[in-house]
Amino acid sequence: MLGCGQMTQDELKALVAREALKQVVEDAVVGVGSGSTVNQFIDALASIKGRIEGAVAASEASAERLRKHGIRVFDLNSVNELPVYIDGADEITEHLHMVKGGGGALTREKIVAAVARKFVCICDASKLVGVLGKFPLPVEVIPMARSHVGRELRKLGAHPELRENYRTDNGNLIIDCHGLTIVDPPRLEADLNNIAGVVCNGIFARRAADVLLLGAPTGVTTRLKSG
Ligand code: A5P
Repeated sequence: MLGCGQMTQDELKALVAREALKQVVEDAVVGVGSGSTVNQFIDALASIKGRIEGAVAASEASAERLRKHGIRVFDLNSVNELPVYIDGADEITEHLHMVKGGGGALTREKIVAAVARKFVCICDASKLVGVLGKFPLPVEVIPMARSHVGRELRKLGAHPELRENYRTDNGNLIIDCHGLTIVDPPRLEADLNNIAGVVCNGIFARRAADVLLLGAPTGVTTRLKSG
């Protein structure tokens, strides 16, 4: 094994993914997000699959990976409670507000996160930022509203770019918003949701993470949401 100082980003993701196993509640269904860090978590989860009932997945890709490991995947509607949801982020602040959706799964991620009692975010240290917005903010849009939403996003100061050749698991489009400095994440999250044709946006502030596990060369640090 490499010394801590020499760890790659993938090794940091694997480290934090293994640490997240401690957050999993035995004999219960676990909520699972999507992305490369979550993929590592799913691989680690396979080692304790006999101790959980199964999982709810926030994307088709995660569901497929879980099934390949022999982990039962439940429909969210058939699950009464979800003690924990584990997911990554594209950016996260000290307040545990996040930008998510780089992989396009933001809507289902937000739905599963809304059901879960505890949201545990797993990231490598590069994701921690002072202010959200450098990572282009994804917005999921109903196809017929594409041009209207683009115009409204420009009024809010964004430079919208349609994600080329891409459809979400829900059959919608993604517009990535460049050039934003998100000083009030809960406010912008609500304003974006009020645009007709927007299904969901990638700001997770109204339902922020409860716990952040951050993987750094010095080890994994845990931060809790304040207040
Ligand atoms: C997927 O839609 C996202 O919200 C991911 O959680 C986010 O993009 C983090 O992905 P990585 O773990 O691949 O960086």
